[in-house]
Amino acid sequence: MTEISQPSDFPATPSPVSSKCVRVCQNRACRKQGAVKVLAAFKASPVPEVTVTGSGCLGQCGNGPIVLVVPDMVWYSGVRPSVVPLVVEQHLMRGQRVAQLLYYRFHPQV
Ligand code: FES
Repeated sequence: MTEISQPSDFPATPSPVSSKCVRVCQNRACRKQGAVKVLAAFKASPVPEVTVTGSGCLGQCGNGPIVLVVPDMVWYSGVRPSVVPLVVEQHLMRGQRVAQLLYYRFHPQV
């Protein structure tokens, strides 16, 4: 049996990975509601260790544009490009949800 050795330049620990991912639905219903510009606004405000990506339908059509932040599992609905800086600063940089944008189905108000 051949022994497999690790190359000497192989990192001892995994390379850092993004700790959060912002998924902006780019499917039909959300696109009609402006999701392309929302995705562009997030990409224009990069945050270290946060990945921004377009996604397929997130199953919440008609409430868009829908934005899902993982692994936090925080859903935002009706997101407009004008509020993206608030999400970036408050949620992605300070770790605080933006209450007024939370999607009511998954984050019911008490
Ligand atoms: S099209 Fe965006 S949630 Fe379905």
